[in-house]
Amino acid sequence: MCGIVGYIGERAAQPVLINCLKRLEYRGYDSCGIALLGGYTEIYKDAVRIEALEKSLQPNDSVIGIGHTRWATHGKPSEVNAHPHSDCSGKIAVVHNGVIENYMQLREQLTGEGHVFSSETDTEVIPHLIEKYYDRNLEQAVSRALNEITGSYAFITIHADSGELILSRKDSPLIIGIGDGEYFVASDVPAVLDYTDRVIYLEDGDLAAITKQGISITNNNERVTRVEDRVPWTVEEAQKAGYEHFMIKEIHEQPKVIRNTFAGHISALESEVELGLKNKEMGFSNILILACGTSYHAALIGKHVIQKLTQVPVTVDIASEFNYSESVLGNTLVMVITQSGETADCMKALKKAKELGCYTLVITNVVGSSAARIADDVLYIKAGPEISVAATKSFVAQLVMLYLFALSRSSIDVRSRASLIAELRQLPNKIHEILNREEDIAEQGRYLAGYENAFFVARGISYPVALEGALKVKEIAYIHAEGYAAGELKHGPFALLTPETPVIAIATRDNTYETILANIKEIKARESPVVAIAEDGDDEIGKYVDAVIRIPSVDPLFAPTTAVVALHLLAYYTAKERGCSIDMPRNLAKSVTVE
Ligand code: F6R
Repeated sequence: MCGIVGYIGERAAQPVLINCLKRLEYRGYDSCGIALLGGYTEIYKDAVRIEALEKSLQPNDSVIGIGHTRWATHGKPSEVNAHPHSDCSGKIAVVHNGVIENYMQLREQLTGEGHVFSSETDTEVIPHLIEKYYDRNLEQAVSRALNEITGSYAFITIHADSGELILSRKDSPLIIGIGDGEYFVASDVPAVLDYTDRVIYLEDGDLAAITKQGISITNNNERVTRVEDRVPWTVEEAQKAGYEHFMIKEIHEQPKVIRNTFAGHISALESEVELGLKNKEMGFSNILILACGTSYHAALIGKHVIQKLTQVPVTVDIASEFNYSESVLGNTLVMVITQSGETADCMKALKKAKELGCYTLVITNVVGSSAARIADDVLYIKAGPEISVAATKSFVAQLVMLYLFALSRSSIDVRSRASLIAELRQLPNKIHEILNREEDIAEQGRYLAGYENAFFVARGISYPVALEGALKVKEIAYIHAEGYAAGELKHGPFALLTPETPVIAIATRDNTYETILANIKEIKARESPVVAIAEDGDDEIGKYVDAVIRIPSVDPLFAPTTAVVALHLLAYYTAKERGCSIDMPRNLAKSVTVE
């Protein structure tokens, strides 16, 4: 998704902006640009990578500027559609994330008043509206412009006659990084980590004016103060640390991440889980979990776990679909799982759940994210910054948090709970064992890379793992892959099984094992090659499949956590063999802030 940055201080703004933009590259983009303030406003932008833009720039000693990485929504990637956008005078520059819903109407109206537009974007109406209202006070002009805009936005603007940054947000994240006599603005914390870990998270409706002397923030024309926070992430965590890609680094971080996730939540006697929720006495008759993409797959596994350990009925919905349901929720806990805490579909669902009067709990990775701030309660998975577009370590951390949640409310006896907690504590070691077998999995990845279609199948609690395996192969290796409940293949997809359609079958030894073996035999009878994900010590499976990826045995409840690590590695090596852009897959973005 688009990223925005801004700088005001004593140093040359240009290299700072370029560096901040590079830290946002992982979000996915197709164009980029910067605007610098001297006695006039200079804009440099194009549909190119940041390195190319950087090479085209001459040194510049301006100390105020803004920058943008664009992920096209309105109008194709091109120089003219890239941000920053300007007004007729060329004095104003604006970078914007979000969608201005009434831009067509505003554009028509402004055109009638003599404004000339050059791009196809919705954003361009913002500088023209500001120009319309500008009377030597930029903040006031922005405030008046905002009254006419509907939609979502986080934007920064500068004006050649005014030495300040003016910014505002609504339904799109925006933070201010605080340095020593300097300020950094960004849509995402990693952008500013090289310079500061002191940040202010702006709230919806905030309008901020930043000069070298300080920040003033208003909301609804009232002066407000926003507290300064410390970011719990380090610069090193947001770097590749010698790995070829962020994705493989993040897969390797999983044992450490799991330990972080459960740190502080397990009692000294190892038999109780304490999550520190605000409302500990929550007695809900049912739970609804909402999420998108990979987080949705974690939610589907969470459903099995919570129902098994607490007996409370759980339903799961895709966040964007919940927004269309005519829900009567009653005494329901609504849990939203979102790594970024910024996904627009999740935010809309969360707001709807709150409007329906439900108690809301967010499971997220990002402290201070929009979801964390509006939910009634929040659980942080503490996975550290996840830079690769494809979610891996956050998925495993979400699962661990769901296990902890279920254990904290479980109706099982103390001894069984203690034994599950002991097993949970072993997960980092089990994942280490899988990482030690990386080369075997890489070999299967190189094999899968030769095909254009594949199925991932499983049953029961592992079915969402099949969905996740297929999603990863689609998104980073560009192979058409379908995740299927193994029992459903014969109800249609069997027609697609040929020697050219490999099937990856998750066959861990739980109550579905015998049936999935039968399914594997049916698949083999249709001549599809089968690769099984199976446990150590399973001597049976090798007789029926073409290859086996081995994972260590764990309690069936935890099997998704180990199986998925094998599948994430499989997807990584498949994509690598195919020469794909692993950390930044085409057309995708890390934090999806549009509906
Ligand atoms: C896939 C992936 C996406 C995200 C989805 C939700 O690898 O990362 O499917 O899971 O966009 O994102 P969050 O969890 O940030 O709401």
